[in-house]
Amino acid sequence: MNLLITGGTGTLGRQLLPALLKKPGLHPRLLSRRSAPPRPDIETATGDVTRPETLRPALENIDTVLHLAALTHSRHARDYFTVNTEGTRNLLNACEAAGVRRFFHMSSRAANQNGGAYSESKWQADAAVRDSSLEWTILKPAEVYGGGSNEGIAQLAGWIDRWPVLPIIGGGDYTMSPVHVEDVIAATVQAVTLPGLASETFVLGGPETMTFNHLADRLCAVRKKYPCKIHLPAAFMQGVVSVLSACGLGGMVPDQIPRLLCEKESDIANAREKLGYNPRSLEQGFPAR
Ligand SMILES: NC(=O)c1ccc[n+]([C@@H]2O[C@H](COP(=O)([O-])OP(=O)(O)OC[C@H]3O[C@@H](n4cnc5c(N)ncnc54)[C@H](OP(=O)(O)O)[C@@H]3O)[C@@H](O)[C@H]2O)c1
Repeated sequence: MNLLITGGTGTLGRQLLPALLKKPGLHPRLLSRRSAPPRPDIETATGDVTRPETLRPALENIDTVLHLAALTHSRHARDYFTVNTEGTRNLLNACEAAGVRRFFHMSSRAANQNGGAYSESKWQADAAVRDSSLEWTILKPAEVYGGGSNEGIAQLAGWIDRWPVLPIIGGGDYTMSPVHVEDVIAATVQAVTLPGLASETFVLGGPETMTFNHLADRLCAVRKKYPCKIHLPAAFMQGVVSVLSACGLGGMVPDQIPRLLCEKESDIANAREKLGYNPRSLEQGFPAR
């Protein structure tokens, strides 16, 4: 298999590469905007999904594409659509022209029409993938933790460790399905190397879906720290994050709030059945300190 991997230099891509490289008969090539090869041991094509002219040479002799590249945090809503939606369309068009057969899209459980710009851009990209003439597979990871990440669930656990008060956006009844990065990696490698998959969508969440309140309680129990939860109105938090973000302050971008609150898919049955997916529980993946 001659595999082009976009986004191989990102948080998920960097951790996925070693598992893919172990597979015999898999010849990887990275697509990266960086001029210096990110990994000297892997062939790299310099390219940018927003610049279609750079994609044709990158796809020469490629039969399979694993598309991870995306913009995940931006203060400018338009940029999500440029990279995630238009960039995916550019890549699909280039794949069709180059005779690529299989296309794996790393989407998100948050891909949604009503979840803010990032979610909507991924939702539109999924639609473009489904409309293509390629043998497509869509992977939709939930909230990924583990692998040394300091974001998301790890950030929440870090807060619980340090502070006596835990602010929760809104009522905290929106759903979360935390998944360990190694489980996402195993499922992705399995999907890419399994022959015959086509027109499949796999939600890659944890074994349980829980409300944010429940997740916070579970993490408190794991860390044996019990800060007092206070609920802050979502509209108020949206305003605060927008102002901070416009000033270049704070760790969040505005569209992370609708992304958090929106309705998300949770059914991992298809991945269990066809990929042998068996994700670990939060307590198995997130050991006590
Ligand atoms: N991590 C999670 O928790 C999570 C959860 C659900 C879904 N996902 C999805 O998983 C994928 C990977 O996420 P991540 O967290 O690893 O992202 P990340 O750390 O932000 O990395 C983004 C990657 O995209 C590449 N990229 C960005 N713009 C590009 C462009 N215009 N042309 C070509 N490459 C471009 C970057 O490569 P260069 O800088 O080398 O060009 C980088 O490798 C994304 O599709 C994301 O939506 C992630």
